[in-house]
Amino acid sequence: LNGADSNGSHGALDVVMEGLRRLEYRGYDSAGVAVLTETGIQSRKKSGKLTNLVAELDSSPLPASLTGIGHTRWATHGGPTDQNAHPHLADDGRLALIHNGIIENFAELKAELLEQGVVFASDTDTEVAAALLGSIYRRRTDAGTADALTSAMQEACQRLEGAFTLLAIHQDAPDVVVAARRNSPLVVGLGDGENFLGSDVSGFIDFTRRAVELGQDQVVTITPEDVTITDFYGAPATGKEFHVSWDAAAAEKGGYPSFMAKEINDQPDAVGQTLLGRTDAKGNLVLDELRIDESILRSVDKIVVLACGTSAYAGQVAKYAIEHWCRIPTEIELSHEFRYRDPIVNEKTLVVAISQSGETMDTLMAVRYAREQGAKVVAICNTNGSTIPRESDAVLYTHAGPEIAVASTKAFLAQITATYLLGLYLAQLRGNKFRDEIADVLADLSEMPAKIQEVLDNSDPVKELGRSMADAKSVLFLGRHVGFPVAMEGALKLKELAYIHAEGFAAGELKHGPIALIEEGQPVVVVLPSPRGRDSLHAKVVSNIQEIRARGAVTIVIAEEGDESVAAFSEHVIHVPQTATLLAPLLTTVPLQIFACELAAAKGYDVDQPRNLAKSVTVE
Ligand code: G6P
Repeated sequence: LNGADSNGSHGALDVVMEGLRRLEYRGYDSAGVAVLTETGIQSRKKSGKLTNLVAELDSSPLPASLTGIGHTRWATHGGPTDQNAHPHLADDGRLALIHNGIIENFAELKAELLEQGVVFASDTDTEVAAALLGSIYRRRTDAGTADALTSAMQEACQRLEGAFTLLAIHQDAPDVVVAARRNSPLVVGLGDGENFLGSDVSGFIDFTRRAVELGQDQVVTITPEDVTITDFYGAPATGKEFHVSWDAAAAEKGGYPSFMAKEINDQPDAVGQTLLGRTDAKGNLVLDELRIDESILRSVDKIVVLACGTSAYAGQVAKYAIEHWCRIPTEIELSHEFRYRDPIVNEKTLVVAISQSGETMDTLMAVRYAREQGAKVVAICNTNGSTIPRESDAVLYTHAGPEIAVASTKAFLAQITATYLLGLYLAQLRGNKFRDEIADVLADLSEMPAKIQEVLDNSDPVKELGRSMADAKSVLFLGRHVGFPVAMEGALKLKELAYIHAEGFAAGELKHGPIALIEEGQPVVVVLPSPRGRDSLHAKVVSNIQEIRARGAVTIVIAEEGDESVAAFSEHVIHVPQTATLLAPLLTTVPLQIFACELAAAKGYDVDQPRNLAKSVTVE
């Protein structure tokens, strides 16, 4: 979603369009706006990216207005057509509504409304919510009074099931936007003589830094002067005010061809900022934010990491590190699989929920489930004021800054860094034979921003390689130990950005099946462990490279500086600085991101907004 609204000194349409531009990464199947004018509500909507709506507004302009709403869509019910785009109108065009989420009982409500004679113009569940609100508004005796839209919204929300953020305007209430939220994000921006609403703060970051976090099941009414919050039954409620520290420039491309390119280059800073201020003068880790009783953290007997997408690969890396340092059994599971299999979680379980956006519905639901079972939940999150940290027992923020490109890059590195901090902190707290390693690891970690910068500075060969492989039909990725999740993340980046079939495998698993895929010319990217590492993993992966080479594979090897072991028989070797085995993902991931980004750009694809994806998936 999606909506940023303004009453007040800025023209509503400009504010809404700027907000949509900043929020477009959340969904971009279609977009629409509605403004309140003296003659009533006027709306424009268009399928496709925001530029289509801009063109529509150029050819068919809207009059000046001080109140408006806007939306960019990621289709759930009904395809991405002009008709299905939001806003949806009701009450004979006197009411406009936008929606994020899914109304689960829409069929039942629609049947009821059809019986009342309502005619629907789209296939969406949103139009049902609009019609319901319109019908309640009409029926209420207070219709036309200042509070009528608010009270109708409260009543409508009592009937709705599922996840929703709703924003509505009505012709009878020229200065008012009424909004509601359940399970979907919504924040208020407090301006001077103007107020704003948005799915996240980037929607209004150009206009104010003062924001209010809303709670679950709340209705908020904004006018140019006031913000009034209630629950769904009209009882007064409050939100939590916070200051937005991101600056608007951080959400701009800053001279790079894409947000993705910029964010890849931001990574030294993303890791550096995430490490900043988390040790005391004696070099001990202090995670003040981790407001969970130390005795509870000491008694934890299992850690379960929950996440989706790229964040889940950060969780896989975390498992290796946390188990090694803390000697606590650590599982990583996709959030949407977790709660449906009757998992064993209790008071002695520490759940770590990793989410860049803090809004992923699958992860939010898993967090709720885990807490119901008595587990303590620590969120690792990049977005202030978002839902998952609010519903967790504690939060460890990653300080990667706003991530706009849909496919995650800098948040991934920051997440890995944060999970390391958490693992080391638990090791420090619980004391074990690995305690002595902590200071060394922290020292190694502090060198990572400079090492990541080195990878970036030497990235021309990998860029060239990406461009030269634009015609590849399929690319395989192999890794072992922490290199395995890195391989999977490399494959995911290529799928997401370049729409190329890509798979990440554990190198040791190759001989048990995937090797059947190798044929003459098959590109395979291999993340090679350090030759200085333990357990002769390096030698084993070198053998795997020989095995696929013998079957015709073209290999691209990510190896440590000074490791020339495969130079003689690998087509391409990309070197990254030396580091401790567990920290290597912070370096080896970077060439894979650059490879995917360059390859996709060479194919002419929009690397910031790949087809079919959305950055923040607020539906299950
Ligand atoms: C979406 C995005 C992915 C992201 C995943 C998890 O699918 O397209 O890039 O990794 O959600 O998002 P989260 O915000 O929870 O980290």
